[in-house]
Amino acid sequence: MDIFEAIKNRRSIRHYKSDPIDDKVIQTVLEAAHWAPSWGNAQCWRFIVVRDKKIKSEVADTLFKVTVDNEKVENAAAGSMKQAPVLIVVCAETGKAGCNEEGVPVTNKGGYWFMFDIALAVQNLLLAAYAVGLGTVIVGGFDADKVAQILNMPKEYTVVTMTPLGVPDSKGQVSPRKKLSEVMYYEKFK
Ligand SMILES: Cc1cc2nc3c(=O)[nH]c(=O)nc-3n(C[C@H](O)[C@H](O)[C@H](O)COP(=O)(O)O)c2cc1C
Repeated sequence: MDIFEAIKNRRSIRHYKSDPIDDKVIQTVLEAAHWAPSWGNAQCWRFIVVRDKKIKSEVADTLFKVTVDNEKVENAAAGSMKQAPVLIVVCAETGKAGCNEEGVPVTNKGGYWFMFDIALAVQNLLLAAYAVGLGTVIVGGFDADKVAQILNMPKEYTVVTMTPLGVPDSKGQVSPRKKLSEVMYYEKFK
């Protein structure tokens, strides 16, 4: 698949069929994620593949409600996390990206470079999933501490994001982008 086609046409998918996903396909998608660049090649990402309905449901229950038109409503991805046959939880080993060998941050952006590395891996994951005909939606609005507890995560790791993975049951809505000219500058910001 042409990379520009994948980048432009991938959409967040919030409705899934229950068709099971072969482990080989999951590994293909995660292999793509794992080939992302990372700080000092630290590869701080870890992927937890959850198929167990009860665990998926417990994790989905950690989603925060969101405010839409002054009303508290469920996160739009809540149902999809229970519906999709697979949930991939992406965690990071902290104290690696952006840190020296003692785990001390080496830039004035602090110890959060792992977010950057995870994002690179997750974008690869999304595009690879799209290329093999599967849907995804990045989920960010959840209680990471609760998810860590549910998944028995050691304290050196933190949960960054997750995505359902499955056969799309409906097309994703196109969220329009700003004009490139609104976000692009030459030489200096102003
Ligand atoms: C960091 C991050 C967190 C997100 N969290 C959520 C979420 O909690 N729930 C949800 O339904 N979508 C979530 N999304 C998906 C965005 O809403 C979606 O990517 C955006 O609207 C653009 O649509 P597209 O992915 O179809 O191009 C998140 C996306 C990103 C990058």
